[in-house]
Amino acid sequence: MSKRVAVIGAGPSGLAQLRAFQSAKDKGADIPDIVCFEKQSDWGGLWNYSWRTGLDDHGEPVHGSMYRYLWSNGPKEGLEFADYSFEEHFGRPIASYPPRAVLFDYIEGRVKKSGVRHWIRFNSAVRQVSYDEHEGMFHVTVQDHEKGVEYTEEFDHVIVASGHFSTPNVPEYPGFDTFKGRILHAHDFRDAREFSDKDILILGTSYSAEDIGSQCWKYGCKTVTVAHRTAPMGFDWPANWQEVPALESVDGRTAFFKDGTSKQVDAIILCTGYRHHFPFLPDDLRLKTANRLAAADLYKVVVYVGNPDLFYLGMQDQWYTFNMFDAQAWWVRDVILGRISLPDAAALKADPITREATEDALADDYACIAYQGAYTKELIDETDYPSFDIEVANQAFNKWKKHKKRG
Ligand SMILES: Cc1cc2nc3c(=O)[nH]c(=O)nc-3n(C[C@H](O)[C@H](O)[C@H](O)COP(=O)(O)OP(=O)(O)OC[C@H]3O[C@@H](n4cnc5c(N)ncnc54)[C@H](O)[C@@H]3O)c2cc1C
Ligand SMILES: NC(=O)c1ccc[n+]([C@@H]2O[C@H](COP(=O)([O-])OP(=O)(O)OC[C@H]3O[C@@H](n4cnc5c(N)ncnc54)[C@H](OP(=O)(O)O)[C@@H]3O)[C@@H](O)[C@H]2O)c1
Repeated sequence: MSKRVAVIGAGPSGLAQLRAFQSAKDKGADIPDIVCFEKQSDWGGLWNYSWRTGLDDHGEPVHGSMYRYLWSNGPKEGLEFADYSFEEHFGRPIASYPPRAVLFDYIEGRVKKSGVRHWIRFNSAVRQVSYDEHEGMFHVTVQDHEKGVEYTEEFDHVIVASGHFSTPNVPEYPGFDTFKGRILHAHDFRDAREFSDKDILILGTSYSAEDIGSQCWKYGCKTVTVAHRTAPMGFDWPANWQEVPALESVDGRTAFFKDGTSKQVDAIILCTGYRHHFPFLPDDLRLKTANRLAAADLYKVVVYVGNPDLFYLGMQDQWYTFNMFDAQAWWVRDVILGRISLPDAAALKADPITREATEDALADDYACIAYQGAYTKELIDETDYPSFDIEVANQAFNKWKKHKKRG
């Protein structure tokens, strides 16, 4: 019987995996039986926008963290698929920072062309994965929301591509329980117009903070106050935007900061990041890592060192995205097809430790971009994924980073 492979999630990472197997099949390879489980009713992962927050129509936690007016925050030149260019998809050059719907269209265009949709079981939430040592097989239990049944199937390999920007990290500060305005996490932010004429406080200084703050400003909020725990963003902000030290507490509608200052606010938006969360995995198979470039316990940032038949895609913090997920997917495919051999257990475990040490020694964001570019190239060089000019992609990210600093 041919091998069976389960892919959990049909976002950009899971779709990259399907495309990788399909590409091998097109070239005549004998590929395993592939089943991709997707809990939503369509593909695209975070790019499959939903107005919903909280629970979806099946009672599943809403996966989407994107908002109505989201535009790509990185240059498209840095994320282009090497086997399907923007120009091929749109038939003409397009701008560097496309809106969300344009990127969804692009992601979808490639998988529509390659005909992999029949491998996906939609409205199918993976509930549990376990590994039977004796059989050497994974048991994957799935809730089929269309048929209203739960069933279990066996697989030789499991590839977890369920994303890690969906389960919010929600800190609590003294006074939150009696705050007289609205408190929400970025995960539940959908439409900046809700905050027009309001004084908003944002916690966090990363992408969500700068982007959600900018959207609220653009759509007419009265003031934006951003509290930083570590360091301010330091951009040249408009007059009604201020950066303040860390929040200490709130009382009524007043927010108090570490330097003794305070501000009356109507809403607090927690742009405080996300947690890696895999409720369907037992302790011995579950990835436990911080959001960093060298995710813990993953050989080549994809093979789970505790069980090398289990893979994770896209689990690191991301400068590179779609083309890095492709590089990972092609590489994982080749391990499963027996084209790439894995080293012994000691070497598997040593690899992420070395990668973490290298990452820890990186001087700045520019070095981080080069590091992730080199990682992507390292994987590409070991497979038949069409090579692309990593240096040009690095330069696109560097230029973007510099432009942001200009004020
Ligand atoms: C607000 C926001 C904006 C972003 N903007 C950009 C950007 O501009 N450019 C960029 O390149 N990247 C951006 N990203 C990064 C984003 O992580 C990647 O673009 C990409 O979506 C990651 O793909 P993924 O497939 O790994 O995960 P996801 O896109 O999260 O997809 C995971 C899939 O797994 C499914 N799933 C989860 N659990 C289960 C389960 N138990 N059973 C079955 N299915 C399950 C989900 O429904 C989902 O479809 C952004 C991220 C966020 C949060
Ligand atoms: N338009 C877009 O394309 C767009 C928009 C938004 C997000 N994104 C993507 O979404 C992903 C996640 O970005 P993100 O900004 O949500 O998360 P993030 O990059 O992980 O940043 C989390 C922020 O929260 C702060 N924080 C964490 N815990 C805190 C606490 N207890 N109190 C105060 N501050 C706290 C961190 O501060 P410290 O620095 O002090 O740790 C950090 O500034 C990224 O891949 C990003 O590219 C894209």
